[in-house]
Amino acid sequence: MERLIITGGNKLKGNLKIKGAKNSMLPIMAASLLNGCGKEVLLENIPNLIDMHIMKKILQFIGATVHYKNGNLRIDSGNLENYSIPDQLMGEMRSSIFLMGPLLARSGKVKVSHPGGCSIGLRPIDLHLKGLEAMGAKIWEEKGFISASAAQLKGADIYLDYPSVGATENLMMAATLAQGKTTIYNAAKEPEIVDLQNFLNAMGAVIRGAGTETVKIEGVDRLESCTYRIIPDRIVAGTYMIAAAITGGDVVFTDVIPAHLEALISKLREAGVIVESTDDTVKIANGNLKALETLRTLPYPGFPTDLQSQMMVLLSLARGESVLVESVFEARLKHAEELKKMNASIRVEGCKAYIKGIEKLYGAEVEITDLRAGAALVLAGLAAEGTTIVTGVKHIDRGYERIENDLQLLGANITRGCEENIFYLS
Ligand code: UD1
Repeated sequence: MERLIITGGNKLKGNLKIKGAKNSMLPIMAASLLNGCGKEVLLENIPNLIDMHIMKKILQFIGATVHYKNGNLRIDSGNLENYSIPDQLMGEMRSSIFLMGPLLARSGKVKVSHPGGCSIGLRPIDLHLKGLEAMGAKIWEEKGFISASAAQLKGADIYLDYPSVGATENLMMAATLAQGKTTIYNAAKEPEIVDLQNFLNAMGAVIRGAGTETVKIEGVDRLESCTYRIIPDRIVAGTYMIAAAITGGDVVFTDVIPAHLEALISKLREAGVIVESTDDTVKIANGNLKALETLRTLPYPGFPTDLQSQMMVLLSLARGESVLVESVFEARLKHAEELKKMNASIRVEGCKAYIKGIEKLYGAEVEITDLRAGAALVLAGLAAEGTTIVTGVKHIDRGYERIENDLQLLGANITRGCEENIFYLS
């Protein structure tokens, strides 16, 4: 069991290049299965994350040949052998649900296990299934597995009750090879949706409207190989921007798209942080942190739920009282309990957290239960007095490529150790 050991107090300083986006990479890897031409797809700027390796294993199980080296991923999906994804692989990553759309479009059938819930709450997939049904798929559930079949998907008008990121992606992928036109109304508008559209169009799909609430897809007969570079990870960039702010640091982030971070930049400025940006860099400089009257998570372009836990740490150290409202996921405030172990003053009522700014956080032993909450605890450790030991690091490795290396580069005192070393330290 690996842990991170952090001695807080160092101000982060320097430059850091941001790598490719996990949430673009995963649907784009799945979408590669739509290429049946026998030549490989080359994806560039792919981060070396646990989730990438799980998706790679799934694609290989389905019959694709997949190689990863130095940020480049080559996927040849000319011959697919399986349409059923084993329970164990599905269980390792909830996002594997969006293999349904591409597999159904390509093979005419698919079988996956139900993703169920996770530590941030119930994760229903009704919108995915309703959309596929509207396109003519027959769907049935049996013993925890969901199967779907369709000799030929048909274009349809689909209205999403909620702008779900995964459902929008799943349906876009399915619609690329459907007969006729599909329109997705109330689609998610996240930058990763635009990235998926650009990738699919590079393979020969005809999609317009991603980034707005209406996405239109005209079905084509086949998709071809292409080379594609994925966008930088706005959530990783945002996490490190908050880290720089709470340590009173001075950091320039390169290879970022500040336009994707507007909500965060605006809220950081409101909280007293000095933020400067160019077309592809963001600079964070020391400021006096002050409370935010309200911070509410929303679908893009609203404030991202994936940066909520990190902002909870910042607000814990800001002068005054803040109210943080989590409106995207039902149970995503559990990290408050761990932060309280470090002296944070937070009261959670339903989906709201009432945060009273305090002078100092103190090092403690804390446990990670989900990816972004884990990043928040690392951030808390960077700002805290004394040593923080963070367990459950595997959750962080799903979305941050060796987080300690990036933070060490900026001057943080953070190392990865195994259980015996920690025992010795304490
Ligand atoms: C994606 C991101 C995740 C991010 C989330 C919200 C990936 C791999 N993951 O997750 O990091 O936190 O967007 O920005 O891109 N819902 C339903 N029915 C459905 C689907 C979703 O009720 O069929 C609900 C969910 O329970 C949740 C909300 O819609 O409350 C948002 O979920 P969704 O946008 O689908 O998130 P994911 O695609 O799972």
